[in-house]
Amino acid sequence: MTQKTYAVITYGCQMNAHDSERISGLLEDAGYRRAESGTDDADLVVFNTCAVRENADNRLYGNLGHLAPAKQRRPGMQIAVGGCMAQKDRELIVTKAPWVDVVFGTHNVGALPVLLERARVERSAQVEIREALEQFPSTLPTRRESAYAAWVSISVGCSNTCTYCIVPALRGKETDRRPGDILAEVRMLVDEGVQEVTLLGQNVNAYGLEFGDREAFAKLLRACGQVDGLRRVRFTSPHPKDFTDAVIAAMAETDNVMPSLHMPLQSGSDDVLRRMRRSYRSERFLGILDRVREAIPEAAVTTDIIVGFPGETEADFQATLDVVRQARFSGAFTFQYSIRPGTPAATMADQVPRPVVQERYERLVALQDEIAWQENLRLVGTPVEVMMATGEGRKDAATARMSGRARDNRLVHVAVGADPSARPRPGDLVEVAVTHAAPHHLVADGGVAGLVRTRGGDAYAARLAAPATVGVALGMPTLRPA
Ligand code: 5AD
Ligand code: SF4
Repeated sequence: MTQKTYAVITYGCQMNAHDSERISGLLEDAGYRRAESGTDDADLVVFNTCAVRENADNRLYGNLGHLAPAKQRRPGMQIAVGGCMAQKDRELIVTKAPWVDVVFGTHNVGALPVLLERARVERSAQVEIREALEQFPSTLPTRRESAYAAWVSISVGCSNTCTYCIVPALRGKETDRRPGDILAEVRMLVDEGVQEVTLLGQNVNAYGLEFGDREAFAKLLRACGQVDGLRRVRFTSPHPKDFTDAVIAAMAETDNVMPSLHMPLQSGSDDVLRRMRRSYRSERFLGILDRVREAIPEAAVTTDIIVGFPGETEADFQATLDVVRQARFSGAFTFQYSIRPGTPAATMADQVPRPVVQERYERLVALQDEIAWQENLRLVGTPVEVMMATGEGRKDAATARMSGRARDNRLVHVAVGADPSARPRPGDLVEVAVTHAAPHHLVADGGVAGLVRTRGGDAYAARLAAPATVGVALGMPTLRPA
């Protein structure tokens, strides 16, 4: 019997991307192999969905519509929908798209193979959503997309109650994973050649509250610093309300914790923050940044900002612009407020008209781009260490450039020359000087000064050489929340 093939389409945040690695791992354990040309010829297509904003939500139904003819042509094909939209819409998915075979939620990813089999045998759609986590997902098999960089979950779910956000309703309350299990996974990954780990949680600063240790996250960072061979540690995302000085000290004093911080601001107006039920105020946010920069002067800080939260006035918006001017973010994910039915903000009075939101959004993006550009220009002429990557900067092949991330997480396009034997591999480190700056990236066209061939580069090359995994050794994609 020929092996069945699968494709996984992922939307949303890093947690989802990491869940997709588990979906792939489960399917490969169940005997599937990855389809070579994506959804075109796959026997199974899995959508791992996001529900954080309405556009992410609409995209799913559009894409399911595109697959309907394929399903008619190939009746043996199966379609499964998981992730946050599945948790939210449940049976509605098979009502709107009756050609879907399986709907599974965020708490029961592990059930996918069984549900697929049941749908096939019973010839009927299977919708199975659980309200609570069945098992910590890290115990599931995982097929990692990158040989040299890996995500490691430290917690799942979120116990905050931000009034705009649907995530707590879909991912449940925060559950923390034990530090020993996390570190064992990190060590195992490093043994396999991984050079960089990103610790993942909806609110990493709340890590440990569940088992009664407020300092658990700071301790975890320091413990990562003791793992031999681990070059880079990142984490996402912290919540300003739980950000302690112990975490700042741990970042500053642990060599392999990178000088970069993604800390969502959401709004610079204290009144809006209050109505968002975000319990910090702009002054506290800026105070954290000051302390981070005092301890780690080279740190680059990025953020998330929502424009047009219900009741946002021009003065509120000006307060956001003010904080953006003071914070000097190296980058920001900016979002237009999107009504999520069932959240407290959805029914608040004074929803801001779309054209007003759009106009404010454009002003914010223009200001932030200008600041990011100025911050990047300051780096021209300075040396940076870049970990090479795949999957970023698709035009690079034509220009003999490769892309990667600096220690502070800035995207850098590096001229690596035409000689393939002198080229770094994804996962290798290079020392370069920045020659140009743009708002969203740096360029280093002056040649590679130092090349360190790492075990991550070796692991990448080994994957490419292994026939079973040809073409799948992708780099870690840098995702924007959809
Ligand atoms: N509308 C717009 N943006 C949102 N986000 C979360 N919920 C909403 C919403 N309803 C943004 C926040 C969060 C990021 C992942 O998505 O900025 O940090
Ligand atoms: Fe789910 Fe939120 Fe991630 Fe979207 S961003 S996939 S809603 S947890």
